[in-house]
Amino acid sequence: MVGLVPSILSADFTRLGEQVREAEAAGAQRIQIDVMDGHFVPNISMGAMVVAAVRRCTSLPLEAHLMITNPQEYIETFAKAGADVIIVHQEVCPHLHRVIQQIKGCGKQAGVALNPSTPVAMLVDILNLLDLVLVMTVNPGFGGQDFIPEALPKISRLRQMIDTRNLHCDIEVDGGIHEKTVPQVVQAGANLLVAGSAVYNEKESVEQAMARLRNAI
Ligand code: DX5
Repeated sequence: MVGLVPSILSADFTRLGEQVREAEAAGAQRIQIDVMDGHFVPNISMGAMVVAAVRRCTSLPLEAHLMITNPQEYIETFAKAGADVIIVHQEVCPHLHRVIQQIKGCGKQAGVALNPSTPVAMLVDILNLLDLVLVMTVNPGFGGQDFIPEALPKISRLRQMIDTRNLHCDIEVDGGIHEKTVPQVVQAGANLLVAGSAVYNEKESVEQAMARLRNAI
C-alpha cells in the first residue's frame, strides 16, 4: 500500500486549515510539515507552532521533517506540538542513535532523512530502530525543484536492505514527486510519497491533484 503525504510547504498559508482538510478529504495518509532553520538549509520556513496549528485541523498523523541543525534540542518541542513522526537529518546527528532513542522516549515514531549525497550505508547499524527513512530526491530547502534520478538506485538498495532483514521501516521519498516520477519511485520500493507542489498548485484543486497522483501510483 503506497501512501501519499502532502507537504504543506507549497500550501496557501492564508487558508492553511482548509488546505489541510482538503488533503485529508482527498485521501492523504499523513501530512508533512517542513521545518527549515536557514542554517542546515538555505531557507527559513516554519516551526513547532505550525505543527500545533495543523494538529488542530486534522486527525491524520503528522510528520515533522526537521531540516535544522541540532535537532536533538527540539525533539520534545515538536513532540509536544503534536508531531507523530519526527524526522531528523543524518548529516547533522553525530549521535544519531541517541537522537532516535530521544524521539522514541517521547513516544513518537523516528525517521531519518538522507540528502542526495548521503549513502544508505550510513544507516546500516540503526536501521532496525527506525520507523522511517526519508530519501531526499531533491536537495532540501525548497519546493518545486527537479527530481534527482540518481536517488532511484539508492531507494532500491534501501528496499533490499529492509526486506532482506525483514525490518518494518517505511521508505519515504521527498522532492520532485509528481505523476511522472511516482511510477519510478514506487517501482524502486518507496511506500510513502511526499508531494508539495504536485498537491498544492494553481493548476488544479487538491482533490484533482491527489487523484492524479493516486492514478500514477
Ligand atoms: C524540500 C522539502 C520537500 C518539499 C517537496 O526541502 O523537504 O518536502 O516540500 O516539494 P515538492 O514536492 O514541490 O518538490
